[in-house]
Amino acid sequence: MRLILVGPPGAGKGTQAVHLAAHFGIPHISTGDLFRANIKGETELGKLAKSYMDAGNLVPDSVTNAMLEDRLTHADTAPGFLLDGYPRNVGQAEFLAEVLVKKSISLDAVLELSIPNEEIIKRLSGRRVCRNCGTTSHVIFDKPKVDGVCDNCGGELYQREDDKEEVIANRLSVYSEQTEPIVAFYKNLGILKAISAVGEVSEISANAIAALK
Ligand code: AP5
Repeated sequence: MRLILVGPPGAGKGTQAVHLAAHFGIPHISTGDLFRANIKGETELGKLAKSYMDAGNLVPDSVTNAMLEDRLTHADTAPGFLLDGYPRNVGQAEFLAEVLVKKSISLDAVLELSIPNEEIIKRLSGRRVCRNCGTTSHVIFDKPKVDGVCDNCGGELYQREDDKEEVIANRLSVYSEQTEPIVAFYKNLGILKAISAVGEVSEISANAIAALK
């Protein structure tokens, strides 16, 4: 299964990706997570990405495409992969198509998660992420057992810089101007499936798996 998850910030791509990757036995590749790991490791790539991410803008394609192409050379992608947060504009979608042609492989599906903006704002403003293992929780919808402490590893939970209200608005306009056109791109290729991202996490996962069968 070679799959892309597309949807606005806070649609639940990361949350669903964990379930779908486990279901299909494929690695979950999130370009946002790759950038955050580089920021944590204080690499040159992380230093470059940070200013774009904190402002809610896209990291330049030259950097993002090279990072993604390198990730797809790892052996764990042989049975397939789930891309979360990539591609994020038509240029990246065209670049990915070239990479896949070089590898003589193709995409099976692109799953769009749709959700109204009011719900996105509630989700992003309450999201907390573990500084240690990256697990996501929510102050209302997915409350940790102890406030501020990760259920998975006991690490400290923090609010992403780009989950602050003023940055969320910019991320939503970046999504509608730059990312939404890839939905039409994949629709034209006949591989787009769309589901609602509103409801219980388990119900959305079941709908996603049914749509992909
Ligand atoms: P990235 O990390 O990809 O962020 P994003 O796409 O904006 O998506 P999010 O991680 O915010 O949301 P999500 O859809 O994964 O939702 P989640 O499951 O966490 O990118 C960050 C930045 O990196 C970008 O702005 C850019 O700067 C850079 N970047 C990354 N990729 C790039 C690329 N290809 N090109 C250029 N730049 C790039 O859920 C959100 C919250 O809701 C959580 O708290 C969760 O617990 C809760 N929740 C989830 N599902 C439900 C549900 N069903 N009901 C109630 N609550 C729910």
